[in-house]
Amino acid sequence: MFHHPLPPDAELRILEVRHAEELYELCDANRQRLAPYLPWIDSTWSQADTREFIEQGLQQFASGQGFHCGIWRQDQIAGSVGMHKIDWLNHSVAIGYWIAKEFEGRGLVTRAAAALTNHCLRDLGLHRVEIRCATTNVASQRVAERLGFRREGTLRGAQKVRDGWLDMVVFSKLAAE
Ligand SMILES: CC(C)(COP(=O)(O)OP(=O)(O)OC[C@H]1O[C@@H](n2cnc3c(N)ncnc32)[C@H](O)[C@@H]1OP(=O)(O)O)[C@@H](O)C(=O)NCCC(=O)NCCS
Repeated sequence: MFHHPLPPDAELRILEVRHAEELYELCDANRQRLAPYLPWIDSTWSQADTREFIEQGLQQFASGQGFHCGIWRQDQIAGSVGMHKIDWLNHSVAIGYWIAKEFEGRGLVTRAAAALTNHCLRDLGLHRVEIRCATTNVASQRVAERLGFRREGTLRGAQKVRDGWLDMVVFSKLAAE
């Protein structure tokens, strides 16, 4: 299905049911570092949960509301980047991402999120792409900044995670930028 090269050594592939086992293993191995920022990890306890997530993503894709990709590096799954449901009324979408510990800090997420943002703004014709990061998540904010997203402001107590509520910095990029 859909795949997008991330030269020189990685690629994005749309997540399919056959990827459930390796994706779940990666999520499980990174549980402790994902939990502070990604609430879905606390409802992901088996391959079946991951398969359900992938199936929902494929339905989302089939209905034209965006999709979720795995990030593969040299044929090993390293993380994920994806779209929340597209708001077609406003031609707007929010994207999210994560990467496993052993692949962190190599610019993989920056390249993956750049490819997805370009796809949204150029190929899908969206007007606005948004990234929300916790105020404490400096690495994620750096990704948004490196992609040329503009910092708009902070939503207080906007995301519930295991240890409480996160203040979220909103970044956006418009098609004209
Ligand atoms: C946020 C995350 C996706 C970044 O992945 P990554 O592989 O480090 O991303 P990149 O290598 O493309 O870029 C990271 C940038 O953040 C910087 N960075 C990394 N860790 C940092 C830290 N602890 N403090 C400050 N900056 C940091 C890097 O230096 C780099 O910026 P630079 O190029 O200006 O130096 C990764 O840390 C992650 O998966 N975290 C857990 C899940 C998560 O937070 N997802 C995002 C939710 S909004």
